[in-house]
Amino acid sequence: MTSKSIQSNSKNALSLSIDLRQQLKQWMQNCRASTLALFEEIDGETFCRHVHPDFSPVGWHLGHIAYTEALWLLERSAGLEPLFPEYRRLFAADGLPKTERVKLPTLEAIRDYLDIVRNQVLSHLETAHLEEQERLWRWLIQHESQHSETITFVLQLQRLQDWQFGRLEATLGQGLQAKKLDRFDMVEIPAGEFKQGNNDIDALDNEQPIHRLYLDTYWIDRYPVTCRQYQAFIEAGGYQNSEWWSNSGWKWLQDHPVHRPLYWVDAPEWENHPVCGVSWYEAEAYARFVGKRLPTEAEWEKAASWDLVAGRRRTYPWGETTPDAHYCNHDNQVGHTTPVNGYPTGQSAYGLYDVLGNVWEWTDSWFDGYEGFVNYPYAGYSKVYFDKQHRVLRGGSWATRPWVLRCSFRNWYHPGVRQILAGFRCARSGSQ
Ligand code: AVJ
Ligand code: FE
Repeated sequence: MTSKSIQSNSKNALSLSIDLRQQLKQWMQNCRASTLALFEEIDGETFCRHVHPDFSPVGWHLGHIAYTEALWLLERSAGLEPLFPEYRRLFAADGLPKTERVKLPTLEAIRDYLDIVRNQVLSHLETAHLEEQERLWRWLIQHESQHSETITFVLQLQRLQDWQFGRLEATLGQGLQAKKLDRFDMVEIPAGEFKQGNNDIDALDNEQPIHRLYLDTYWIDRYPVTCRQYQAFIEAGGYQNSEWWSNSGWKWLQDHPVHRPLYWVDAPEWENHPVCGVSWYEAEAYARFVGKRLPTEAEWEKAASWDLVAGRRRTYPWGETTPDAHYCNHDNQVGHTTPVNGYPTGQSAYGLYDVLGNVWEWTDSWFDGYEGFVNYPYAGYSKVYFDKQHRVLRGGSWATRPWVLRCSFRNWYHPGVRQILAGFRCARSGSQ
């Protein structure tokens, strides 16, 4: 969400600050309500359960949200003494290793912690110096948004492990779509410059600064790769044949013997849903199988956000209107993937579908800083991941919160991670 409407409508600094304080408060409360809604039907065991070595239990994320808010807004900004210093070791990102994050306070105790912190934060908001600190407050809303999505990743994994997922999905089918989507349906992006990145007040450190970039002509898939398209790869023995895999991909596959995406559903109702739950290596192998490759993140962003006619970048594929349910599948409103051609109003200027929401999309790029990168609010947010070990994902999933849903947003994970609701679309070079 951008602050454009607030800033441009304000007549003076005072009205800016009143509008902004109220706006921040409302966003913080909305964001919190959707985080807590995820815990409505959760028992104590699920709360502390360590489902996967790479992901902390859902209860830990909740405590970490409160801890981070208190650290930045109460200790660092308001200058207060630490609240609950005993929680520091448990809930700081650099505290206990993930495997030891299982002995947690109860949901009730963590909710109290959240409420106590939040009440003090809201009183601090009344007098906080937003001229210098607006960025920090917006960062915190996005921090909670991201952990809130990770909570959904973990809950989804638990459902899968509990064998509930198959049953769930059988009842959630969207009905057969008449249209058979063709894997050769690609959009040509003519050679030329565009602007990559984002300088808005809510842009994270890794999105800045905006810079011009020239790209040669390339083609990019109109839709994310669907289950039906991917099935051809499975049936052709894609997981048994090293020919389609890079060396590191084949090695990954031998170490992690899988034979289909994590969230694979073999039912006709799902054939136009995007593939969901693939590692970067599987995406790369499929792309080679169909004679294509993964797009670079610059190619992804240009096709997603550049308006060639107006000669400017768009915050969202469709323009500047903040996301809602008729533009894309996000914010857990649907609760699962939807057919990739389901949101024609969400198309980008170049005509790409499903750019935001539905599934994260792997790109070919390693996560790195743009030229002129300055870390904010700490090096551990982005900079320590500029290590050629993390691939960039773009676009957001069906669980992504609106505060982090935009064309310039960059996510990153190890290429072997499959638990993050990720799919992909393919690209190829050339002018014909
Ligand atoms: C960008 C989603 C990979 O969850 O590890 C949260 C975001 N950074 N707290 C993560 C993040 C610090 C990060 N990802
Ligand atoms: Fe965090």
